Amino acid sequence: MRFVDMIEKKAGGQRLSSAEIAEMVTGYVAGEIPDYQMSAMLMAILQRGMTAEETAELTLSMMHSGDVVDLSDLPGVKLDKHSTGGVGDTTTLVVAPLVAACGGTVAKMSGRGLGHTGGTLDKLESIPGCCVEQSMESFRRIVRENGVAVIGQTGNLVPADKKIYALRDVTATVRSVPLIASSVMSKKLASGSDAIVLDVKTGTGAFMETPEEARALAERMVDIGALVGRRVAAVITDMNQPLGMAVGNALEVREAVQLLSGQIAPDDPLYEVCMLLGSQMLRMGGLAADDADARNRLRAAIDSGAGLEKLQRMVAMMGGESAYLTPERIDELCAVRRHIDVPAGEDGCVVSMQAERIGTAAQMLGAGRATKEDVIDPAVGLVMRVRCGDTVRRGDPLCTLYVNDETRVEEAKAMLLGAIRIGAHGGAATPMVYGVVESK
Ligand code: URA
Ligand code: CA
Repeated sequence: MRFVDMIEKKAGGQRLSSAEIAEMVTGYVAGEIPDYQMSAMLMAILQRGMTAEETAELTLSMMHSGDVVDLSDLPGVKLDKHSTGGVGDTTTLVVAPLVAACGGTVAKMSGRGLGHTGGTLDKLESIPGCCVEQSMESFRRIVRENGVAVIGQTGNLVPADKKIYALRDVTATVRSVPLIASSVMSKKLASGSDAIVLDVKTGTGAFMETPEEARALAERMVDIGALVGRRVAAVITDMNQPLGMAVGNALEVREAVQLLSGQIAPDDPLYEVCMLLGSQMLRMGGLAADDADARNRLRAAIDSGAGLEKLQRMVAMMGGESAYLTPERIDELCAVRRHIDVPAGEDGCVVSMQAERIGTAAQMLGAGRATKEDVIDPAVGLVMRVRCGDTVRRGDPLCTLYVNDETRVEEAKAMLLGAIRIGAHGGAATPMVYGVVESK
């Protein structure tokens, strides 16, 4: 079939066959289908949608466009987690070592941050010497010997996603359930794990702003897992404020070290989401009987320090100076020229926050990239001093900026003051967890 006829078919709301979907992916990656035709197809998919079967076919075609990692020689059920992206989301640096400390095998390939969201690789690189680009042999060795490794994606993992994502970014076709689901799942399936826990974010800092949209995406990704024979579960969690208090690379590593050292209270949102994800992973790996059992094990790995040791060992095996990863020394990685408080302009209650703008403010200080070429300053960022629902007086600090380069401080302050709404009465409390989606 000519590609123009395939576009017409999808634009008319019809299903594409698996052969047509495979032809589209291979044709586009090979450069036989031009960007203008693919753009029209992506817009047709955005507007008309795809069935669960079409989405699974698209996922598999994309997955097979490049290298597929085989981890079957490693012992145990290989566990992975993935977040759809958030602000102050330090869960990987907590959950991956904790699950390993409970006997799990965590083999994870992570990404970098772009725009307002942070990336685990950038956080790991804030530790001197830590190299996230590891060979497959080294990746396997770290997983085998330490139970956990988190590294950068290998160069040729899902080239179809790299090319399609770049086109979606400039054609307003990112926000589509089948396109996001196939993009995320093709990478997860290609990186070789047996069981995958997805953390689908919803709120002002997420792609899926409403819980309903987030649930639709979560269900579609879990369905893909079922259709291709991989264990997948999803949790839907809140991104209406930064998940942790820290937004910035070394600052988030510090928060992870604090959590793994038992210095963060169990009612903290970051702690709760880490427990939820860890519990799913342990149960999918057959390492815990139920949620209560899983949480007890995870808590024990915090109390004994076994989780922190897993993180230290992983970083050491990746060439990093793991001696910094203790509550006593971690502050050294967060040393900056100036700390600047951002005070509340009025008395009242923190009604709501726009997490996306808080992430952007941290990026302005040098914690993130606006373009792929921007250079990150590992120590800078911000630490929130309030949560939604807190009462504040005029002049109380809403957050503290960690600053080296002062060029954009005023802009960042204005961004933050616009992002944190203070009112006479508290807003409606949003839940931390909206639901869990498991395979039927
Ligand atoms: N993250 C991805 O990897 N792909 C998307 O399409 C959206 C978020
Ligand atoms: Ca948004």
